[in-house]
Amino acid sequence: MAPSTRTRRRSRSSKARGHIAPGTTQEETKVLKTKLIWAAVAAITAAGWLAAPAGAEPVNDDLVIDGEIHMTTRTKAAEGMPFDEVLSGWLFRTDETRMLEADSFQNPGMLYVERGEELWNKVEGEAGKSCASCHGDASKSMKGVGASYPKWDAEAGRPINVELQINNCREKNMKAEPYKFDAAEQKALTTFIKHQSLGDPLGIDLAAGDMQGWWEKGKDLYYKRTGQLNLACASCHEQYNGKYIRADHLSQGNVNGFPTYRLKQANMVSLHNRFRGCIRDTRAEFPAAFSDELMALEVYVTWRGTGLSVETPAVRQ
Ligand code: HEC
Ligand code: HEC
Repeated sequence: MAPSTRTRRRSRSSKARGHIAPGTTQEETKVLKTKLIWAAVAAITAAGWLAAPAGAEPVNDDLVIDGEIHMTTRTKAAEGMPFDEVLSGWLFRTDETRMLEADSFQNPGMLYVERGEELWNKVEGEAGKSCASCHGDASKSMKGVGASYPKWDAEAGRPINVELQINNCREKNMKAEPYKFDAAEQKALTTFIKHQSLGDPLGIDLAAGDMQGWWEKGKDLYYKRTGQLNLACASCHEQYNGKYIRADHLSQGNVNGFPTYRLKQANMVSLHNRFRGCIRDTRAEFPAAFSDELMALEVYVTWRGTGLSVETPAVRQ
């Protein structure tokens, strides 16, 4: 959707922000609702994109964690990608935010890595086991694992992510309850496992099972315009990549830093939570975490970031 002067003019004439006064007729309500939608579009187009300052290029900077681990934050895009280069969201953030990620003592997400390590060693469930009982030292057994998800799960007949693999092991191998979506423990343990692949390049196996079919489903969703704002993931992360939505510098929307520490929320944010947030901004209804829709998106968007270093826990605005 190209930001047009038409939307701008419409929004100026629209005083219909906020509530609808009592005693308003149905017809008037309809008109007001239409105006509200235009106001929402204007909030994104006029306030954000049209006001995009010059110099909206991502920074040219190297991410080296603790002066030791060299991260790939830009790399040649996989064949079939609409960009020549894929870029980490890190390159789109402010100096302060980038510095927080480069120093693991300052990175607030590292507290969740520590919490995840405690959970790794904690005995739970009827089998009387911890993760460590079977997998031992995570820095060896889980090295590179987080970089290769989502993976095909033959038993489930669908791809699974790290969160669901953890639940599989809890249920089948520990006889413990699976974690609920976005439980603090789920985020911490996922963060801990992905952190073991810090610096490793994202690379998923599309040859396994029907991964290709899920990739295609994810691609369709990525380009499908939906909702009242008629936006697709691609509208923001491909077409308007590099522009601003209010104070947010739009990145390519890569997933290599997840779970990610968000300063705005002062919390870890899981990937499906982020997906849901992005979709919620464009339409009223959004799919459930771990649904086929979001899993397909995870497969496709992870592929888009092929070759970028795992940054978990990344720090974002
Ligand atoms: C009783 C032994 C056992 C326990 C306890 C156990 N697992 Fe597993 N885990 C396995 C086996 C066996 C596999 C490989 C087969 C499979 O995928 O089910 C596996 C696979 C995995 C994988 C996928 C590795 C890969 O290369 O894709 C991850 C991640 C994982 N487990 C994490 C955990 C976590 C986290 C816990 C604790 C919450 C845990 N496991 C507890 C036995 C166990
Ligand atoms: C209305 C614009 C808009 C749409 C549409 C949108 N996003 Fe986003 N998205 C944002 C903004 C703004 C951010 C935060 C700044 C950034 O990292 O780009 C963001 C961030 C992200 C991030 C985090 C990037 C990082 O480095 O932490 C991912 C992943 C993402 N979006 C995926 C998606 C997917 C998948 C879709 C489609 C389902 C989508 N987005 C649709 C605006 C949008």
